[in-house]
Amino acid sequence: MIEKGAPIAEAKGKLGVLLVGMGAVTTTFIAGVEAIRKGLASPIGSLTQMGTIRLGKRTEGRSPLIRDFVPLADLKDLVFGTWDIFEENAYDAALHAGVLEKELLVQIKPQMSKIKPMPAVFDQEYVKRLAGTHIKKGKTKMDMAEQLMDDIVEFKKKNRCSRMVMVWCASTEVFIKPHPVHKTLASFEKAMRENHKAITPSMIYAYAALKSGIGFANGAPNLTVDIPAIIELAEKENLPICGKDFKTGQTLMKTIVAPGLKARLLGLHGWFSTNILGNRDGEVLEDPGSFKTKEESKLSVLEYILQPKVYPELYSDFSHLVRINYYPPRGDNKEGWDNIDIFGWLGYPMQIKIDFLCRDSILAAPIVLDLALFMDLAQRTGMRGIQEWLSFYFKSPMCAENLYPEHDLFIQLMKLKNTLRHLRGEELITHLGLEYYD
Ligand SMILES: NC(=O)c1ccc[n+]([C@@H]2O[C@H](COP(=O)([O-])OP(=O)(O)OC[C@H]3O[C@@H](n4cnc5c(N)ncnc54)[C@H](O)[C@@H]3O)[C@@H](O)[C@H]2O)c1
Repeated sequence: MIEKGAPIAEAKGKLGVLLVGMGAVTTTFIAGVEAIRKGLASPIGSLTQMGTIRLGKRTEGRSPLIRDFVPLADLKDLVFGTWDIFEENAYDAALHAGVLEKELLVQIKPQMSKIKPMPAVFDQEYVKRLAGTHIKKGKTKMDMAEQLMDDIVEFKKKNRCSRMVMVWCASTEVFIKPHPVHKTLASFEKAMRENHKAITPSMIYAYAALKSGIGFANGAPNLTVDIPAIIELAEKENLPICGKDFKTGQTLMKTIVAPGLKARLLGLHGWFSTNILGNRDGEVLEDPGSFKTKEESKLSVLEYILQPKVYPELYSDFSHLVRINYYPPRGDNKEGWDNIDIFGWLGYPMQIKIDFLCRDSILAAPIVLDLALFMDLAQRTGMRGIQEWLSFYFKSPMCAENLYPEHDLFIQLMKLKNTLRHLRGEELITHLGLEYYD
């Protein structure tokens, strides 16, 4: 464990943010940072930019901004690198994604047009609904990883980066189960050389990142870094990893509402969630293999938050269904409906309906920013392996093998802030409060 108040290397020089996939999330993130740097917009939704952290007793009145409390990279020092299976630059890709208004995009066109994706490591076997042309060729999966490592060296040199982080923002891959070749680094590397099916493109990127001295965050529900071989590699290289699946939209709402129901001991008969969305992500999720990966990630949330084993009378028997339908007219402006059948005092039934007309990538972009900055902080602090304190950002947070994941958004936030207090040698906050009445 990192010691309380351990030294943290300064955030000096440029931070390269390497993004796999340059679709709706990536372009909304990059455009947002460019717009913020030009003073055209505010970083709303970003904990690293707008969040504060209380220190000491409530009577002390100390609540600095998080970015003044821990040494984070400054937005002016970020440079962006991407890979995609399509060749269009970030400006055209942002127009294509249709999340942001053209009026905003034209003001940052010079910066956005300069960002051109590097050819991707891609195999249609793992994302059935996409076919691209901007793709690397290589005999084995290990060759592909080596080509990615060359890209990373080249990018670092060209942009004079002092540090880098990688965030997976590419499409959701088909569902795959952990395989024996994922068990150790040695078996994983052998499987890469033998082009084994269980090695997915996202694993190749994660491997290349860690071998290049870069931490990896997984924004999609793919297995990717959630396997012993990659965890072993991260620990060996002293690098952080985290994932998986950005917590936005409906799952964000679920992890806000469900802890409240449990806190007040209101029972649950059922939770039916349905979504319509019309972006490329929605199109990819039309494929049953990719949907299965997403469904697994979305379904686990309620089980863990409500603890049916601890509260059998309230939560042992609820139905939980999740549906996603691709509906082109909506574009990125998803609509997520939740019908929640609850019961209260004496078993009397009640219903809650939530209709969240959200914008997926608007919710995801600040998560990408925070993850890039916190992963860089973790790297400079020497934090390695799974970063459970970043669970706040994920639908399906990674945790140690013998633990269960923490899904409750408020516990996740407390965990994150207490980690920052620990890093800076401050007392942890327990919210006890009795001391004020002595
Ligand atoms: N938008 C959200 O709120 C949200 C929330 C949680 C998770 N996610 C996940 O984030 C990812 C990105 O979402 P999006 O809305 O930007 O999707 P998108 O379809 O707009 O963008 C994904 C991009 O990845 C590219 N791509 C696919 N495979 C690739 C590969 N192997 N290498 C390089 N590029 C590749 C595609 O060409 C596409 O441009 C998806 O997996 C999605 O499930 C998004």
